[in-house]
Amino acid sequence: MNFAQRMGRIVPSPTLKVTAEADKLRRQGIDVVDLGAGEPDFGTPEHVNVAAHAAIDAHFTKYTPSAGILELREAIAGRYREDYGVSYAADEVIATAGGKQALYNLAMVLCDDGDEVITHGPFWPSIPDQIKLAGGTPVIVPAHREDGFTIHADPIIHAITPRTKAIIINSPCNPTGALITEEAMTAIADAAARAGIWVIADLTYEKLIYDPVPHNLPRILSERLRDRAILCGATSKAYAMTGWRCGWAVGPKAVIAACNALQGHSTSNVSSIAQKAAVAALTGPQDGVTAMLEEYRVRRDLVWEWLLEDPRFECVKPRGAFYLFPYAAEAVAACGLRTTAEFAEALLQEAHVALTAGEGFDAPGYFRLSYATSREQLREGVTRIHEFVHTRARAAAARG
Ligand SMILES: Cc1ncc(COP(=O)(O)O)c(C=O)c1O
Repeated sequence: MNFAQRMGRIVPSPTLKVTAEADKLRRQGIDVVDLGAGEPDFGTPEHVNVAAHAAIDAHFTKYTPSAGILELREAIAGRYREDYGVSYAADEVIATAGGKQALYNLAMVLCDDGDEVITHGPFWPSIPDQIKLAGGTPVIVPAHREDGFTIHADPIIHAITPRTKAIIINSPCNPTGALITEEAMTAIADAAARAGIWVIADLTYEKLIYDPVPHNLPRILSERLRDRAILCGATSKAYAMTGWRCGWAVGPKAVIAACNALQGHSTSNVSSIAQKAAVAALTGPQDGVTAMLEEYRVRRDLVWEWLLEDPRFECVKPRGAFYLFPYAAEAVAACGLRTTAEFAEALLQEAHVALTAGEGFDAPGYFRLSYATSREQLREGVTRIHEFVHTRARAAAARG
């Protein structure tokens, strides 16, 4: 096919692919345990649903300004003021179709052909692929299992070259659950200020941090790099609103205006109804967020313990987000398989458990297991994984 060359630079989102495959099996009547999806199993909070119904009843169903209604942009700025003590005006905020579009807009606005954008791996696959679509080159600084995939400042700063345009930090990180420390973020912000480059903080999982560790990245960035730092977030994970498609970018007025110019020629505004729902989520009671976090903590501890009952899996306990990211090379080899991609495929077809293979996150040998699902599903999923490995390993050993 004579598609544009840019399409040759990317692959379909591996996480969405797993969901689609699991759905296909389910439609055939198969009982699939889906530990692949990166989305909360909780319902959207009722007061948010009520706000959306009210928007429809009030016929709030027309175009809005492409950057989002003022009420929403003020609600986003208000949340950052209340949670982090930072001050942004409404024209420093754009509402986007999920956090994904905020990052996509920025890749398109900031990258020229050949520009380098530094980020850390294992990564959420859309980060490098969006950079590639924009003509840039992702430069991946690896994090390591041995120290819990901690995102260190030094290797990131060392990766800066005259071609570097931006650094993207995702903390808490999908898929590893790791956090960056405030010290490391400060060092990166200062290095970026010296080099005249942008820093983008992907804070999609900012509400999902298990221990009360200092993690005020917005304050650090707005104090040390106010004119070149952008905060990206979304209602998706914190408020169980993945399908509503509402996220944002918060940063200097000029870059937000550029994102708006781009968005004005692509998707325009986030659905007017979703915008009203997001206002309710951001300005309404926040105790639902804490309740969900507490449940995720219980699930994290349970599923971590269960999985490691088979010593062929190794796994650091994640500090944020809702994924385990186990190292499974020994289990994969015992099964007579070569890669975690093969493992995930066989597991889905034979044991009907959906996981995302590490290959998609630049981490062969690993897989991502989402615990944003019920304890019962997690128990069933891990039981099936163990049985699958046990059965396969016995067969492989018998074959010699
Ligand atoms: C690291 C990271 N950033 C951004 C997003 C975008 O989220 P959404 O577009 O659903 O708001 C996701 C979603 O999985 C993510 O994992």
